[in-house]
Amino acid sequence: MGKKWSDLNESEEVMRHLKWGILGTGRIAAKFARGLNSTDRATLLAVGSRREETAREFAEEHGVPRAYARYEDLLADPEVEAVYISLPNHLHGEWSIKCAEAGKHILCEKPAMVNADELERVLAMVKARDAFWMEAFMYRCHPQWRKVKEIISAGRIGEVRVLHSAFSFNMGPAYQDFRLQNHLAGGGLMDVGVYCVSFSRLIAGEEPSECRAAAHIGEKSGVDEYMAGALRFPSGVIASFISGLECTVPSGAAVYGSEGSITVESPWQPGDEAALVVSNGESTERITVKTPMDPYAQEALHVAEHLEARQGPAMTWDDSLGQARAVDALRASMGLAWDFEREGRR
Ligand SMILES: NC(=O)c1ccc[n+]([C@@H]2O[C@H](COP(=O)([O-])OP(=O)(O)OC[C@H]3O[C@@H](n4cnc5c(N)ncnc54)[C@H](OP(=O)(O)O)[C@@H]3O)[C@@H](O)[C@H]2O)c1
Repeated sequence: MGKKWSDLNESEEVMRHLKWGILGTGRIAAKFARGLNSTDRATLLAVGSRREETAREFAEEHGVPRAYARYEDLLADPEVEAVYISLPNHLHGEWSIKCAEAGKHILCEKPAMVNADELERVLAMVKARDAFWMEAFMYRCHPQWRKVKEIISAGRIGEVRVLHSAFSFNMGPAYQDFRLQNHLAGGGLMDVGVYCVSFSRLIAGEEPSECRAAAHIGEKSGVDEYMAGALRFPSGVIASFISGLECTVPSGAAVYGSEGSITVESPWQPGDEAALVVSNGESTERITVKTPMDPYAQEALHVAEHLEARQGPAMTWDDSLGQARAVDALRASMGLAWDFEREGRR
């Protein structure tokens, strides 16, 4: 899985102060903007929207100096060095390629692409253009995962045997949202289940040899509205998870070993402070892990720290490829193909 995970959060000697542009003005774009504005080690220079009004409103709310009414116009700004792609899933590939062609470095929201084939094509282009590219799994930049790894390496829970995680929420009949639309590569696995897959692969430290899933695929949405997945890893580790857009399973992640367990209370959207509960025999310890800054600022600085390597250890290109292949296998197991895949278009 590329560079060692333990390299995460270690600053390299020279860190570029990057000027950022954001494509899209939705929910996660606002969080990333607040993160960038909380640090003086990066600048939020521009925002691009499909409409002038939304670009202007976002710029006013977040103090962004330049507002563009077309994504292309942001890419044509020579002072924008790095672009954060916060668009719906089906647009990640197209805009990663356009960013690379425009000479920009790229932080692209998860899931990286609609499938592994598309990711391979995009990474070939990114490499040819010598651009930085990383799939934005912000949760991976939080130092609590380094602590989890340390606890495992110290043998405090014995040999890792089983992983379990969940991420779900109930969005109701919001069929206008891209999450509930097949042709926009929506669904619970792509939206929240990918975190569980990513966590399982991170802790197992290898790619799954078997991926199975059972899902409820909505008649109207044509996507998995709730699902359960199971992964088997070559080392013998087994992972199970539940994800969904129409159910309310409490979010969490746990690592079960031969001698004890680690429960991660806020695995996916950790705040400045996150907590782990380590149980071993009769003792239980609650450990809090603090971040030095806003987690989205930390993610942006991770890009700057590793710019010269063109990929970040929080989520390397190989890691994203392994992730996309596992997600493809889970979709195949649950019988979910995208309309455009069935038509042989992507
Ligand atoms: N929300 C979260 O907490 C979160 C967390 C992690 C990752 N993500 C990922 O970030 C991406 C965006 O999620 P989001 O929650 O921010 O979505 P969102 O609130 O719906 O925003 C998406 C933005 O993309 C632009 N857009 C372009 N074409 C669109 C289309 N056909 N339909 C809808 N919007 C379109 C819109 O901006 P303009 O109108 O300005 O062009 C819109 O505001 C997704 O890939 C998601 O998986 C989200």
